[in-house]
Amino acid sequence: MTRAIYPGSFDPVTFGHLDIIKRSASIMDELIVGVLNNSKKQPLFSVDERVRMLCEVTKAYANVKVTSFSGLLIDFADEVGAGVIVRGLRAITDFEYELQMSQTNHIMNPGIDTIFFTTSLEYAYLSSSTVKEVAMYGGDISRFVPETVIKAIREKFN
Ligand code: COA
Repeated sequence: MTRAIYPGSFDPVTFGHLDIIKRSASIMDELIVGVLNNSKKQPLFSVDERVRMLCEVTKAYANVKVTSFSGLLIDFADEVGAGVIVRGLRAITDFEYELQMSQTNHIMNPGIDTIFFTTSLEYAYLSSSTVKEVAMYGGDISRFVPETVIKAIREKFN
């Protein structure tokens, strides 16, 4: 059985993330979406809010679970018994950071490998920060995030 983790901040989840979730879940037995409690970022949504939104937008996928984590990703992988980390690559600019992370994780735990999905072209430009900025100035974010997230962002900015 192949259990994989898709980690990230997901502040908030976008269609770009959902694209990776859908495609990776279709080839894994189980996909655990890990929401990082990241002390390096100042999030708009609490970890619980991010987990709730992700649960809502992934409920159609029976083999996808959502949970939060803090600390090292390899420790979280061990804890949940996952041998694969899934990451999305949007552009060449993501590559160097992702390569460094995957190699460091592999050195720390050779039993864990990272596999990369190239983000679908229509989401290659997307990031959670862009979505928040567009929303903050009242722009239309319906092409970037699901309805649940639109509502949650509106509540935050109202
Ligand atoms: N579609 C749309 N946006 C995407 C995307 C996709 N497919 N893939 C990434 N992004 C965006 C995110 O929205 C996010 O945007 P933001 O910066 O505006 O919020 C950005 O790309 C990067 O985000 P994310 O994928 O959430 O990564 P991260 O850098 O916040 O976290 C972890 C990456 C969780 C894998 C990493 O920080 C980690 O493992 N942390 C745990 C500590 C650890 O083990 N450290 C040692 C690592 S060697």
